[in-house]
Amino acid sequence: MIRKTLLAGVALAAGLMAAGAAGAADLTIGFSQIGSESGWRAAETTVSKMEAEKRGIDLKIADAQQKQENQIKAIRSFIAQGVDAIFLAPVVATGWDSVLEEAKDAEIPVVLLDRTIDTKDDSLYLTAVTSDTVYEGRVAGEWLAKTVGDKDCKIVELQGTVGSSPAINRKKGFDEAIAAHSNLSIVRSQTGDFTRTKGKEVMESFIKAENGGKDICAVYAHNDDMQIGAIQAIKEAGLKPGTDILLVSIDAVPDIFKAMAEGEANATVELTPNMAGPAFDAVIAFKENGTVPPKWIQTESKLYLPDTAQAEYERRKDLGY
Ligand code: AHR
Repeated sequence: MIRKTLLAGVALAAGLMAAGAAGAADLTIGFSQIGSESGWRAAETTVSKMEAEKRGIDLKIADAQQKQENQIKAIRSFIAQGVDAIFLAPVVATGWDSVLEEAKDAEIPVVLLDRTIDTKDDSLYLTAVTSDTVYEGRVAGEWLAKTVGDKDCKIVELQGTVGSSPAINRKKGFDEAIAAHSNLSIVRSQTGDFTRTKGKEVMESFIKAENGGKDICAVYAHNDDMQIGAIQAIKEAGLKPGTDILLVSIDAVPDIFKAMAEGEANATVELTPNMAGPAFDAVIAFKENGTVPPKWIQTESKLYLPDTAQAEYERRKDLGY
C-alpha cells in the first residue's frame, strides 16, 4: 500500500513537471519586431535569432513595418497560436493595454524589448529589457557641454519616432543636461523617424534655415542612422562633419564608428542590440522555476569617442551583426 502511494506520488510529480516545466528547447516565443528602420534594429533582429538558436528556442518574428496596428495583429496571432511567451518592441509608448490584457487572460507572459510603454497596470508585462534612455540623452548632452566649454553653441536635434519612448526620453535627458549651460541652445528640433533617409532630409532643411549650416555648432541625433544621414547632408553643403559641426548620437553601430575613425563624427552612446538574451533567460527561469524577474532589466549605456573608433569598428564587424 505504502509502495503504491509512493509510486503514485512519483508519477504525479513527473506528470506535473512534464506539464508545467518547459525546458528552453520546448519554448516557442513570438517576437513582434518594429521593422528595420535602422542598422541598430536590424542588428537586434539578427542577435535575437542567434540567441534563440543558442538556447534551442523556436523564435517567430513578425515584422510590423513601423505600424502599431500590425504589432497588435501579430500579438493576437501569437495568442491564437498559443506561444509560450511574447516579446514586444513597442513602436510607440501608448495604446497597448487592451491587447496586453488579452495576452494576460491567455496566461502568456509578455516581455518588452528596448522600448517601454505607458500603462497604469504593470502586471500586463513580465519585465522590460531596456537601457536607461533618459540617461543616454544626458550622457550625450554632458559630453557636448564639456566639449564646447564657454563657447556659444546652436544645436539642431534630430528626434526619433514621435511618441516612442526613446525619442521622448533621449530628448528629456539631453534637455536636462544642457539646461545648466546658457551658452547651449537647441535652435531646431524635428523628427527624422530614426531613419537615415529622413535624417538627411531634415538636416538639409536645417542647413538651409541656418545660413547654409554655418550657424550650426552641433547636431544631436537620437540615433546613429539619422546622424549618418546628417553627415551626408553636411558634406553636400560643403562643410566638414565632425570639424565644422560637432556630432553626437546614440546606438554605437559599426557605421558611426567608421565615421568617427574618419573624423566625421565625434561621439556615440552605446545601446546593446542584445536585448533578447536577457529576455530569454528571464522567460526560461520564469517557466522552469516560477522565478519572477525584476520589472526592469537594465542594459548598459556607454560613451564612445574617436580614440577607440577604429578598434570598435573592427570588433563589431567580427560579431556578425
Ligand atoms: O528603441 C531603440 C531605438 O530604435 C534605436 O536607438 C534606434 O536606432 C531604433 O530604431
